[in-house]
Amino acid sequence: MNNTLDTASLAPTDTPVGQTPYSAWMHTDVLHSLQTPVSDHPGEHAWIAHVQVSELYWMLIVKELQTAQRQLRENNLGHVYRTLMRVVGHQEVLDANWRSIDWMTPNDLMAILSRAAATYGKDTALQGWTYRHMVYLLGIKQAEHLQHFEPQPARLAQLKQALAEPSLYDELLAYFSRIGMDVPKAVLARDFSAPYVPSQAIEQLWREIYAGPDINLQLQQIGETLADIAEAFSQWKYRHLMATRRTFGTRPAYFGTEGVAWLAPTLDEIPFPELWSARTFIGNPPTGCPHMAKHKS
Ligand code: HEM
Repeated sequence: MNNTLDTASLAPTDTPVGQTPYSAWMHTDVLHSLQTPVSDHPGEHAWIAHVQVSELYWMLIVKELQTAQRQLRENNLGHVYRTLMRVVGHQEVLDANWRSIDWMTPNDLMAILSRAAATYGKDTALQGWTYRHMVYLLGIKQAEHLQHFEPQPARLAQLKQALAEPSLYDELLAYFSRIGMDVPKAVLARDFSAPYVPSQAIEQLWREIYAGPDINLQLQQIGETLADIAEAFSQWKYRHLMATRRTFGTRPAYFGTEGVAWLAPTLDEIPFPELWSARTFIGNPPTGCPHMAKHKS
């Protein structure tokens, strides 16, 4: 890779007439033509920008997770770590983004949503394919959400493929197997489109990785970064739930059931399950430890 920028030797030929190199590269004219409010509410632009920024960051995370998967297949753990660290940074932007619509009351939301429904029809964010692709890559495989994409055949096909392919966690378990860890064949050859079923065998692998503070440091670092990613995912869900409470109360939502009641149980959907469950045991003295025997007597 060439790290120098020798502008003198560059002969720019692709700058369109009427554009600067910056506007051409960043497509600023296109970007700023993509916000088309449907109401006369002064805050709708903030709502649209908030959602569009979220869309961009979900897609960014999708690309990063796919990169991390490829790097895992190449057994390149150092680069996997750097890629996952970028995901953690992107998640902070998604979290901070909520602040820009915290001003909304139910009056504000209803003024905007009623106009959106009158213009485009009643929508649900479950129709967002970037978020669902990210969730599938994080290993939460729920086929029932595909129903929302029937009117978008290309996106439906993309999501069906993401559902059927290994998640980031599946790729990590395959890597564990390649480096000699005891991953059951049934886990490696599972139907990736089915919901992941946690197992004691994988929990045991995490216990081994964390068997001491000074061993398996690279794998422990990956484990902690995955824990950061899972925690930030849950944090986003919590912020969303509170925004719903704040602007929507207990109104029935898209499915006719109370929105909060639909959302609250999804907070328990935490990626990389055994990385969490193993923590009940990590740090326990090994069975038969003479120190423990002394305390028991
Ligand atoms: C602040 C007002 C909001 C309310 C009242 C609200 C309400 C809801 C409700 C009730 C659901 C459950 C499905 C449904 O019934 O449609 C849902 C799902 C969802 N919403 Fe929102 N939402 C709000 C803002 C947002 C924003 C700003 C975004 C995007 C940046 C967003 C993204 C999502 C996503 C991705 C889901 C699917 C969650 C999952 O699968 O666990 N929501 N929302």
